[in-house]
Amino acid sequence: MELRTVWWEEESVRLIDQRKLPHTFEVVHCTELAHVAHAIRSMQVRGAPAIGCTAAYGMALAARQSSAANPETLLADLQQAKATLDAQRPTAVNLAWATARMVRRAEAVAVEGVNAIKTALLAEAEAIYAEDLAMCHAIGDHGAPLIPPRGHVLTHCNAGGLATAGYGTALAPIRTAFAQGRPIHVFVDETRPFLQGARLTAWELLQAGIPQTLITDNMAAFMMQRGLVDCIIVGADRIAANGDVANKIGTYGLAVLARYHNIPFYVAAPYSTIDLATASGAEIPIEERDPAEVTHIAGIAIAPHGVNAAHPAFDVTPHELVTAIITERGVVRPPFLDALRQLASKP
Ligand code: MRU
Repeated sequence: MELRTVWWEEESVRLIDQRKLPHTFEVVHCTELAHVAHAIRSMQVRGAPAIGCTAAYGMALAARQSSAANPETLLADLQQAKATLDAQRPTAVNLAWATARMVRRAEAVAVEGVNAIKTALLAEAEAIYAEDLAMCHAIGDHGAPLIPPRGHVLTHCNAGGLATAGYGTALAPIRTAFAQGRPIHVFVDETRPFLQGARLTAWELLQAGIPQTLITDNMAAFMMQRGLVDCIIVGADRIAANGDVANKIGTYGLAVLARYHNIPFYVAAPYSTIDLATASGAEIPIEERDPAEVTHIAGIAIAPHGVNAAHPAFDVTPHELVTAIITERGVVRPPFLDALRQLASKP
């Protein structure tokens, strides 16, 4: 059975606290919209599709807790909830995509009254979750054939089941190829500063029984130079119309290394991560997080007090460095501008 990252239970949003994994498994109960916003901001839940699913449940929660007596007031409350949620993490487009879809659903049933909106929004959040899970499996089907026969894949951050409704995006082709009995070995970047690779990807792969080697981020180049890496697969937080990809800080460096070493560099993401309204990566807002996440690891200071530190949480990989984008609708290859536009009309 697949682990759920976020779910609805007893009129609250529940989620696995990903800050505590892998050593502590704790479930967070969000009984108010503010709790959901905090969970997203503090990265109790993280990963673009999982954030989208969580925000959808957050919108359902906001609707059910609203005291609005008429649909107009409830719709205004929902716009407010959307603004609150969208502001938590600006880079992952799945967040605003999900809240916009929830607002559209509310508007569509508004004529039926307040209760109809409340019922419809919970059903819509469940639908977004179910669709995300199905998309991840489809990404696995499309992406598995791209993994070279020896099966040595390097990945960055966590774009696994925890970052989605389940199964993952970057980890989906890996899981599918492994399930097909193919040889697979994953090099897991630890992913400073939040260590999503060491804490979350390593945990997921262990649970799935998929062979892996954990490496620090600065070992990736040497692994490639030694010929140990056959391809790189990463997730994405936003893909611009020209194919530029925003993903966890450090992704761009890997793409440059991949080009130098002649290694295919794949990005796996659902269609909801593609933002045709954003022309290029230069327009993607990059989240700046607290430098304390750089100067401290798990609350322990590793740098001198008072040191100046930077923390851009994401970087942008130019489309020229991307070999292909793996989506649930198929594999997209350059030139991305046309190919991504055509994908929009594909079911
Ligand atoms: O800061 P995070 O942990 O939310 O960043 C996550 C990533 O960068 C993932 O690669 C991306 O969201 C895709 S997850 C399927």
